[in-house]
Amino acid sequence: MIVTVTANPSVDRTIELDGTLVRGEVQRAARVRRQPGGKGINVARAVAEAGLDAVALLPARADDPLLTLLDETGLRYRTIPVEAAIRTNLTIAEPDGTTTKLNEPGAELSEGHVARFTDLIADTAADADWVALCGSLPPGVSAEWYGFVVERLHANGKRIAVDTSGAPLSAIVGFGPDLLKPNAFELAELTGGDGAALESAAEAGDLGPAVEASRLLAERTGGAVLTTLGAAGALLTDAAGTWFAQAPAVQVRSTVGAGDSSLAGYLIAGERGASPAEALACAVAYGSAAASLPGTTPPRPSDLNLAGVDVRPLS
Ligand SMILES: Nc1ncnc2c1ncn2[C@@H]1O[C@H](COP(=O)(O)OP(=O)(O)OP(=O)(O)O)[C@@H](O)[C@H]1O
Ligand SMILES: [Mg+2]
Repeated sequence: MIVTVTANPSVDRTIELDGTLVRGEVQRAARVRRQPGGKGINVARAVAEAGLDAVALLPARADDPLLTLLDETGLRYRTIPVEAAIRTNLTIAEPDGTTTKLNEPGAELSEGHVARFTDLIADTAADADWVALCGSLPPGVSAEWYGFVVERLHANGKRIAVDTSGAPLSAIVGFGPDLLKPNAFELAELTGGDGAALESAAEAGDLGPAVEASRLLAERTGGAVLTTLGAAGALLTDAAGTWFAQAPAVQVRSTVGAGDSSLAGYLIAGERGASPAEALACAVAYGSAAASLPGTTPPRPSDLNLAGVDVRPLS
């Protein structure tokens, strides 16, 4: 079973435009979608679509509109009760694939909420192979909280994947997560340098800077690092080696949540006993399928082109 943790969930509203977004103008939406959001929820949905056991954990009050959306998906979830409504994150999608995101901070969690949520995670994780800690932390939650969760779960022999950014990302490195899933920008936050430059070098075929930074990070965490590089594909680095994978070009519709799908692909492959190279190939197939789907729609196995993925070890 895979357990995902979303401390700061959202209702994701995607507005698709027929033309380019123009600041300061009134524009009509071509289409509007409302989907359950939050990185852990995205990961759990893709895992469940693959026919594997997944549970999403989140703080939510019983009548929250997000839970109605989750009920429609059939995803299994467990909550701790909170008073405030879950935030809405807005994505504006242009026809050329450009996406602009406006994210609310989320409602504050009290110390009591955090303690109950931590207990819920430890309790649910009893049956888990992997626990994925995903996304930003809401106001009131310390940047070290993911680290405390890792310590508690490691004491019970659980494997933990983390996909976050900013202060919680910097703080988690020293706690030894089993897998970190940075994109180029998050990698650069940790190792220095320029994320955009890392990604554009990789797109131009120069993987050197991204490989060096990923290896540095893997040495620091002692675990595996899955670095996603947008259209360029992804790298997997662990103590045994480094692999690179890329999927055939797709018609991009929305890259929002592509990284969440990559993490889901890695975990799905791991549940089926895949090697690191196979898990990376599956991660890239999922990321690429997600980029070709609208909004944050989680890929289904039938959306994947796993056979088309080129995966190779790097010396
Ligand atoms: N423009 C694109 N074309 C093709 N594939 C893409 C594109 N963008 C992303 N992908 C696929 O999705 C994966 C993850 O993308 P990216 O590195 O942008 O993740 P991310 O920034 O963590 O995304 P998010 O946090 O929004 O989920 C990539 O490794 C790749 O497989
Ligand atoms: Mg990401």
